[in-house]
Amino acid sequence: MKRILIAIDGPAGSGKSTTAELVARRLGYVYIDTGAMYRAMTLKVLNSNVDPADEAAVVELARATSISLVNGGEMRVLLDGNDVTEAIRSEPVTNNVSLVSSYPEVRQLMVAEQRKIGSKKGCVIDGRDIGTVVFPDADLKFYIVADIMERARRRQEELSARGEELPIVQVVRELKERDRKDSTRETSPLRKADGAIEIDTTKLTINEQVEIVLNYVNEVTMGQEEMQKK
Ligand code: CDP
Repeated sequence: MKRILIAIDGPAGSGKSTTAELVARRLGYVYIDTGAMYRAMTLKVLNSNVDPADEAAVVELARATSISLVNGGEMRVLLDGNDVTEAIRSEPVTNNVSLVSSYPEVRQLMVAEQRKIGSKKGCVIDGRDIGTVVFPDADLKFYIVADIMERARRRQEELSARGEELPIVQVVRELKERDRKDSTRETSPLRKADGAIEIDTTKLTINEQVEIVLNYVNEVTMGQEEMQKK
């Protein structure tokens, strides 16, 4: 079966990461969580006592930072060689990541790395600007959305599983704020890419989301094989 490149974008809590990781596993593809890279960079900023609002200092730090994603079973995130997979999900990181990822030079560094890994095909890559900027020529593009209350409920559950209990009003406020920053920034704002297939996951189970994506993948890979036979 021909291997393709699948781009998945969408706001926080839409279910894109869960879907992307499971789709990659089912297909035996590499999974690239670009949000995890921006989160790792943000963790480095916070740990280095650099002010996240100081763009020049953040960019200088980014140039001296190595971030890699290790696939195999579950994806692990390495920051300068150290495993930070759990640490990047903390509240301070979540609340500063939109600012750190708004800096064009930080994005350039991350995007270069993403293109290097993704150019091998046989890969599912998720984020905010994958179908629009990083891989506008992806074989398949998805834009995953869900109602704000459902997204907040999922995020609250995720936090609770890690022992962080937050009132739903606070989760809603933080999600809205991150949506606003991500979709109004100048460089690579979050938006639906041309040709992207929109999936609303508000009333879907994870299994259903994964099946919908896999059906599209089947269509595309079978179509490409037919074309090659001709
Ligand atoms: O998992 P969650 O939906 O909370 O977000 P994420 O995918 O981990 O991304 C965290 C943040 O990184 C986003 O809110 C964006 O500010 C930024 N990001 C980005 O700017 N570009 C990407 N391709 C991926 C994430």
